[in-house]
Amino acid sequence: MTHSTSTNQWQADTYDHKLDFVSRLGDGILSLLQPQAGERILDLGCGTGDLTAEIAAAGAVAVGIDLSAEMIERGRSKYPHLDLSVQNAYTYRTQEPFDAVFSNAALHWMRDAGTVAETVALALRPGGRFVAEFGGHGNVAALVGATEAALAAHGYDPAGRNPWYFPTVGEYASLLEARGFRVMWAQELDRPTPLKGESGVRDWLDVLADDFFHDVSAPDKASIYQMVEDHLRPAIYVDGQWVADYRRLRICAVKVAE
Ligand code: BEZ
Repeated sequence: MTHSTSTNQWQADTYDHKLDFVSRLGDGILSLLQPQAGERILDLGCGTGDLTAEIAAAGAVAVGIDLSAEMIERGRSKYPHLDLSVQNAYTYRTQEPFDAVFSNAALHWMRDAGTVAETVALALRPGGRFVAEFGGHGNVAALVGATEAALAAHGYDPAGRNPWYFPTVGEYASLLEARGFRVMWAQELDRPTPLKGESGVRDWLDVLADDFFHDVSAPDKASIYQMVEDHLRPAIYVDGQWVADYRRLRICAVKVAE
């Protein structure tokens, strides 16, 4: 996963241990990729490389890129045999085209989606496929709504803090079509996602939502976290378990042959 360019201070330990569901739930989209032995496959926003490793295990030549140096460092220590490097998806270019570009839980961090789609198009050979899953329109709406309301209640303007891009299927399919892709399949699905432990919402805010809190004092942040939990408890605390309101967009597209 690639974090927003503004802070890019990933907490790779917390990510791997408390938010490990990010790569585990990516297994579904991996089955749509169907990596074949010998294929060159780019994992765009590879995080700590768990899914890159699965692609490589299928016999493909897997290349993982991520903006976060901390994530790549962690990935290299877990998977020393993999080709993982720090790269910016807006500007990444390759001389050796890929048979497929894969991305799980990363594209929502890249708000300039057109530029990323251009990178994907340039990275693929004609006929190559793009298989991706990321947050769809309305993703984590309860978490975002509660966070923005709590910020406002503490005197912080919530406008301009949300770092994410969560498009509809129609919006994203059109964006790809405008860049020479043929969209073969797309799906939007609700995927309620359990967060680990009593501190699940706090951990989620700490690791994934720090853009909302860049100018918030420590005491205000503690009070905002409490307010977010109190507000969300009736809606997303189910049988002693926090369940985040994730909504995914899955898409498979092919680069039209020139
Ligand atoms: C997601 O995977 O849907 C997600 C990740 C970070 C922040 C928001 C959503």
